[in-house]
Amino acid sequence: MRQVRTFVAWQVTRAAAGRPHFRVIERREDGLPVGHCGLKRVDDWPFAQSTLESESELEIGYMLDPDWWGHGYATEAAGSALADGFKNFGRERLLARANAENTASIAVMLRCGMTFEAEQLEDGKRLVQYQITRRPWQAGSAAP
Ligand SMILES: CC(C)(COP(=O)(O)OP(=O)(O)OC[C@H]1O[C@@H](n2cnc3c(N)ncnc32)[C@H](O)[C@@H]1OP(=O)(O)O)[C@@H](O)C(=O)NCCC(=O)NCCS
Repeated sequence: MRQVRTFVAWQVTRAAAGRPHFRVIERREDGLPVGHCGLKRVDDWPFAQSTLESESELEIGYMLDPDWWGHGYATEAAGSALADGFKNFGRERLLARANAENTASIAVMLRCGMTFEAEQLEDGKRLVQYQITRRPWQAGSAAP
């Protein structure tokens, strides 16, 4: 619980400062919180230190309450995080990473139009990296 409070306070501070951050995903009909999603710097993460080379780039992240898997909420939220990265943070390229066996997460990336870029071992786990640049994002269905 303490880690959750730390995380939320940290994200609120980041949002207030106009920096990339995570937000709650709320169901459109009734505002029910179903998960969280957003942007983070690849090298700016206290709970999962990264050593990937693209350290100053932004990656999207998402997590849903398991009760709400299978409705497309993560894909919609990930699309919104990409829009945030391209439109509000002016990035030309955005990343997403997952453990290679996390097929649900990789499916979200693919539905958002992201393409495989690299794979590497991190702490004994296979990590895959997907990316999308502005032009394919604009051309794709994920772009608003
Ligand atoms: C990764 C995670 C968010 C994916 O959740 P998800 O429910 O599979 O993803 P979505 O919300 O986009 O839903 C997609 C599913 O809903 C279905 N769906 C239903 N309506 C849909 C719609 N309107 N639009 C898109 N998909 C829809 C899709 O067909 C897909 O189902 P399938 O997996 O049987 O093909 C979830 O597994 C999770 O929270 N995992 C734990 C945290 C985690 O691993 N995060 C990523 C770290 S890298």
